[in-house]
Amino acid sequence: MTNRVFSGAQPSGNMHLGNYLGAFRNWARLQDDYECIYCVVDMHAITVWQSPQDLINQTREATAAYIAAGVDPKKSILFNQSRVPGHAELAWIFNCVARLGWLNRMTQFKDKVGKNRENASVGLYVYPDLMAADILLYKATHVPVGEDQKQHLELTRDIAQKFNNDYGVELFPLTEPLILGEGARVMSLRNGNQKMSKSDPSEYSRINLNDDADTIALKIRKAKTDPEPLPGKAADLGDRAEAKNLVGIYAALADMSRDAVCAEFEGKGFGDFKKALTDLAVANLAPITEEMARLEKDPAYIDSVLKEGGERANAIAEPILSEVKQVVGFLS
Ligand code: TRP
Repeated sequence: MTNRVFSGAQPSGNMHLGNYLGAFRNWARLQDDYECIYCVVDMHAITVWQSPQDLINQTREATAAYIAAGVDPKKSILFNQSRVPGHAELAWIFNCVARLGWLNRMTQFKDKVGKNRENASVGLYVYPDLMAADILLYKATHVPVGEDQKQHLELTRDIAQKFNNDYGVELFPLTEPLILGEGARVMSLRNGNQKMSKSDPSEYSRINLNDDADTIALKIRKAKTDPEPLPGKAADLGDRAEAKNLVGIYAALADMSRDAVCAEFEGKGFGDFKKALTDLAVANLAPITEEMARLEKDPAYIDSVLKEGGERANAIAEPILSEVKQVVGFLS
């Protein structure tokens, strides 16, 4: 079987450094070694309310962010989920394979709904079945995901295995996670124990991909730290969550290990370190910001990328879905 990568991200507005270092940059790096399929998951997005115009704008913005980060729509397949009907069709079949008990264990659902479970959409509950369908519709062998999606990927494997067992076939692969390098988890600049997030009320908690150099400098200057100097080894950062986060961001941007960053700045305070981090962040992000701005002025191009990507994705999905339908016993 060919090695095929599938990954997806929700079309949330305000793309930030955490999205870039944790996801898109890695997606771009996989293109030379794998056949890659990248998806803007607009069907997952509507599991919570989205105004239609925001959904359209954010789908285009996410697509622009992936391309600006280096995803090449000629090399990889880049499309929005709702264009390929197989995602919904296979998700239905998986709704009938997955057990209630399995979904009841999903921590992301529990975290998202809190005490408001009765009022959550049914779509939010079966969100992981749709994610399994995204991956298995292409028989993807590898999925780059962050820590927070590992449980969903395990569910995907459970669904693949139960389907194969129930129907006595070897149809779906057991997909492996790809956990990639430094920066997989970028934390808030205001609280080193919280993930960098677009929904944090403080703008100073995150670096947005459309921040200019002055804004980046200001946010890094205001980032929470402690008065201690940097140690020579990353392990000696101990429980200094904010210090660890800034060292991690530096390491990811410079493509260095955390140890190498500590060795370089050993004994220096955060005043000096932040200056170096600012220069590095601006140098890395300026070309991306510029490319995103350029692409956002050309929605017709973005739409044409998604259309062509959808056609290519569908060409892979259709025969797999036919095989599944035949196995299940659907006449066609
Ligand atoms: N649930 C993922 C997230 O929130 C997005 C996603 C949807 C995804 N389908 C996927 C990721 C398939 C990897 C593979 O980040």
